Amino acid sequence: MSADSLAVQRRMELLPITAVYQASAERSAALELAIGGCRVQALVEQFGTPLYCFDAATLDAAANQYRAALSRWYPAASAVTYAGKAYLSRAIVRWAQRHDLWLDCTGAGEIGIAVAGGAPRERILVHGVNKSDEDLDAAVMHAGVIVVDNLMELQRLALRLRSAQNRPSLWLRLRPGVAVDTHAYRQTGQKDSKFGMSPQEVLQAAHFCQEHGLPLNGLHFHQGSQFRDPAPIGLALHIALDLAAALSTGGWQMEALSPGGGWGVAYHEDELPHPEIETYVRFVSQAVVEGCRQRNLPLPSLHLEPGRSLMARAGVAVYRVGAVKQTALRRWLFIDGGMADNPRPALYRARYSALPVTNPERPCMGPAWIAGPYCESGDVLIEALPMPDLAVGELLVVPMSGAYHLAMQSNYNGARRPAVIWLERGEAILIQRRETLVDLLARDVDL
Ligand code: LLP
Repeated sequence: MSADSLAVQRRMELLPITAVYQASAERSAALELAIGGCRVQALVEQFGTPLYCFDAATLDAAANQYRAALSRWYPAASAVTYAGKAYLSRAIVRWAQRHDLWLDCTGAGEIGIAVAGGAPRERILVHGVNKSDEDLDAAVMHAGVIVVDNLMELQRLALRLRSAQNRPSLWLRLRPGVAVDTHAYRQTGQKDSKFGMSPQEVLQAAHFCQEHGLPLNGLHFHQGSQFRDPAPIGLALHIALDLAAALSTGGWQMEALSPGGGWGVAYHEDELPHPEIETYVRFVSQAVVEGCRQRNLPLPSLHLEPGRSLMARAGVAVYRVGAVKQTALRRWLFIDGGMADNPRPALYRARYSALPVTNPERPCMGPAWIAGPYCESGDVLIEALPMPDLAVGELLVVPMSGAYHLAMQSNYNGARRPAVIWLERGEAILIQRRETLVDLLARDVDL
């Protein structure tokens, strides 16, 4: 096998499980990419570029892996909560219902999307590090669980819950002081993190709940996002279970426990393959079972909270090459999207890969810098990726585009957010239309 075809094969592994290259009937010599049974070229003719595609079969497979692994390794009740911050729209809420997933919503905005998509109260869980009055009101009105970030929030909630018709359960968010191995911007469990309460504050909060008759029934922590080594979760679990044991002497029983989400994925063919969901679920389950046994605690309901490991691989971004430029040291391929729809390379130096939509096995012509159209030198989506010669007008796909792209996109330089489609059994359904100039002007007030 040539080096080029080996590279293509490794890049293909990053694409949704249903992506294939096949010789197209119309241009019999050309290999053409299809995802979810749909030719990418045809999708672009219908929906334009940049285009975000979600492959339903890949989403289903990831959700099924979580559920199957939990039932294999955790002998008590469990649930999977999709972290909506990775990407939320009504179609995704509906998909989550198919799999009985709970939804983690940050604040009133995401709660509103979950409600509009038909998520039932008992599966809406609310996070947030500085919840506004509007966030707390929406949470009390619509959620089954509110994860309390700090003592002041707890006092504000207590006032609301006194008169509320619905009383969501409360979980306390612990800051365990143990970091996971990831980019500094994605660490949340370390001592100095802005998230959650110290172990002492958790005890204080639990006593406050007891004194005020608040419906506290769970503990939560989340140490960070995009990690491969689960070992730090074990250390944090010790701290959480010690707290549960201390509180059980006062008669409180921890019914629910969540170690958050954060399990990683591979973005580039240079990395190790995707870490197995099973490895993570098994590690967490065994650590909870063993930790509870040592402390003589009944097994709580275990809640995992993945975002990226459910969503990233199912999403593919499609762009069109608009120009090619050679500078002193670099070959530039300009595409029609970039940091406005995917700020991750600029924010975290995230590395991506890309494939041409036709004939991916053409010989590589050395490294290319794939850049977007925005007025920002940091608007380079991919650096130094070996690529064939691409003609103006050709299409490129960027795999691993499902998580934290659309959720963090912007209108920089007047960019209009791309169309988003759902691919299932050979059918493509538009789930979010492309923004227009009218959308860009919609918030401006006539003076
Ligand atoms: N639970 C909580 C409380 C979280 O804060 C997060 C992510 C998750 C679960 C889900 O983590 P995941 O399984 O998706 O890694 N914008 C960054 C990621 C920020 C993650 C924020 N919290 C990125 O693009 O890498």
